[in-house]
Amino acid sequence: MHVDVLTTFPELFATQPPALLGVSMPRRAIDAGALTVSATDIRTFTHDKHQKTDDRPFGGGPGMVMMCQPVWDAFDHVEKPRAGARRQRVYFTPQGTPLSQELVAHLASCEHLVMLAGHYEGIDERVIEELAPLEVSLGDFVVSGGEVAALVTIDAIARLLPGVLGHEDSSVQDSFSVFAPPQGFSTARDGLSSSKQSKRLLDCPHYTKPREWRGRAVPDVLLSGDHEAIAKWRHAERLRRTFVRRPDLL
Ligand SMILES: C[S@@+](CC[C@H](N)C(=O)[O-])C[C@H]1O[C@@H](n2cnc3c(N)ncnc32)[C@H](O)[C@@H]1O
Repeated sequence: MHVDVLTTFPELFATQPPALLGVSMPRRAIDAGALTVSATDIRTFTHDKHQKTDDRPFGGGPGMVMMCQPVWDAFDHVEKPRAGARRQRVYFTPQGTPLSQELVAHLASCEHLVMLAGHYEGIDERVIEELAPLEVSLGDFVVSGGEVAALVTIDAIARLLPGVLGHEDSSVQDSFSVFAPPQGFSTARDGLSSSKQSKRLLDCPHYTKPREWRGRAVPDVLLSGDHEAIAKWRHAERLRRTFVRRPDLL
């Protein structure tokens, strides 16, 4: 998987520590050869001698708007050498589809992602219409630039790339993964098979040493060595947590 980020702050995408892409899972993905990331400065493509990428909005009002031509040329520059790759263009905007684990899985299945990070008031609508990217939002709030959204998305993708997470920290146990109930686990009264009962659930709680801390004990079942009972307990906790915290997922 290759990710090209089009930005006016390419230095934020360094892949050496302590940069975000230089540590933890993104680092593992890069070291494993599963992920490469390049950041391209949109300013390089301006025809303006001051390397301006933005101008005042037509119709007046506050702020600046990023211009079509440098953005268009930046896409052309990174896409031409990878013609034929399974590609997805992504534009980060608070008006886009909220980022979800399902969306991350879709992005992780592509060969080439071209991510566009906006600034100021945003980007001239005409180049967005022409590029027809997937518009993705981090949530219902506004940050100053799309770079933070690109970094979050790249991190989430890195975890899903083959060979990046070991068995011990496999992403299939994370929140929002599809959980099928363990064998013999039943809450359904309608005779649904396990696969039909599979749901995107929140993860169960986790514990480690010591067995007791400030009067709080680890649940007995986790110390029992009974793997079947542990699997059932974990599934029940996933359901309980999801019901209490995110009933919309059920
Ligand atoms: C200050 S914001 C512009 C917000 C825009 N005027 C609006 O209200 O829709 C500047 C840039 O930050 C990025 N951005 C801001 N909030 C975001 C969010 N929730 N998700 C993804 N990107 C966001 C986008 O790339 C956007 O072009």
